[in-house]
Parts: sequence; structure tokens; C-alpha cells
Amino acid sequence: MATTPLVIAVDGPAASGKGTVARGLARHYGLPHLDTGKLYRAVALSLLRWGGDPDSEFAALRAVHEVAGLMDDPELTSEMVGGIASRVSAYPAVRAALLERQREFAGSPDGAVLDGRDIGTVIAPHAPAKLFVTASIDERARRRHAELTAAGLPVHLEEILIDLRARDERDSGRSAAPLVMADDALLLDTSAMGPDEALAEAIRLVETRLAT
Ligand code: DC
Repeated sequence: MATTPLVIAVDGPAASGKGTVARGLARHYGLPHLDTGKLYRAVALSLLRWGGDPDSEFAALRAVHEVAGLMDDPELTSEMVGGIASRVSAYPAVRAALLERQREFAGSPDGAVLDGRDIGTVIAPHAPAKLFVTASIDERARRRHAELTAAGLPVHLEEILIDLRARDERDSGRSAAPLVMADDALLLDTSAMGPDEALAEAIRLVETRLAT
């Protein structure tokens, strides 16, 4: 009898810990992992490098062609790129152009873990396990601040808070595939958890879901 591939959808806001949880789940279950935020970040980076206007949906759509070549670029993780990614990801044409490769990844017969904003709602609505990973805005800002400070970047906590709030508003307020928790997702609030505890809890939630 054929078994259904294990597909795990991990959604949540910026700096919630969803990336760490998704990578840990992929390792634990031996599944391939796609950080879908990197696709939107690659569009943003391409625009930045070639001088395209992030306010132009047409320019952003053209930048989608450069995505494959930028997926491992170290600059993808910068705050500047993240902010522009949040803007270009609101364009329906950009989302549509990136849809197929994400669906293909989610449709792998080996199963997959994908993390992003719309995995459980749009990319893999039939995923057998869905998590919505979140944390308080103060804790998310604190983590981002620690991360950037450790990387030697001089940043103020207050600026990060303002930036995260703006990002949350854009990601949740847009009309194309906004960040919302899928009806059948399980909530994982990592505010008071370290990475190991968050992963252990994520595995427990996935196991609970698979057992029902
Ligand atoms: O997860 P991240 O910070 O790397 O994502 C960067 C931006 O990309 C985020 O602000 C919103 C967008 N994004 C999206 O709209 N849909 C996804 N599935 C993943 C990311």
C-alpha cells in the first residue's frame, strides 16, 4: 500500500523561530527543506543589484527570472533585503510566478518541509501536518537584535521593533496570500522557548497530528 508522503507546512511571522523549527524538523524526519522566504528575498536582491524599482510590479516580475542564481547568496539574509522582500511579496504576479516551484517541492514523493507565510493555506493546503510558529513581538525583536549584534551590525532594538511591526502589517494585511493561520494548523508559541525546546515541541505536535 502506498503511504502518503510526509509534508510539513511551517508558517509564521518574521523572527518567530519558524526557520530553525523547519530545519530541525527536516533533519529529524530526513526530509528536504525549502525556506520559501529565500525566493522572495532573491527577487528583492535582484532588484537591488540591478537597480530595479521595488514599487514596480513589472520590475519585480522580471526579477523573478534571476531567483535560481541567487538562492545561496550571503546577502539574502540582510535586513534591507528582507524589507524589500516583504514589499515585492505583496504583488500577485510575483507570487503566481513563484507558485509552481514551491508546489513542485511540496509534491515530492519523498515528502518535504516548507516554511513561509502561506504554506499551509496556499502552497500545500493538503499537508498532513501544519504548524503556525509565533512569538511575542518583543521577543522576536530581541532575537533579531541579538543575531545582528552578533554579526557585528550596529542596530537599535527600537528600530528593529518598528521594522518588525511594519513587516507584520505588510505580510498580514496584503490581499494576496496574507499571513494567516490555517484552520487545521497547530500553534507553537516559542516566546519562552530556546531552539531545542521549540524543536522538541514541534516534533511532539507533528506526532500528535500524524497519530489522529
Ligand atoms: O521568512 P522571511 O523573513 O525570509 O521572508 C521574507 C519576506 O518574504 C516576508 O516578509 C514575506 C515574504 N514571504 C511571503 O510572502 N511568503 C512566503 N511563503 C515566504 C516569505
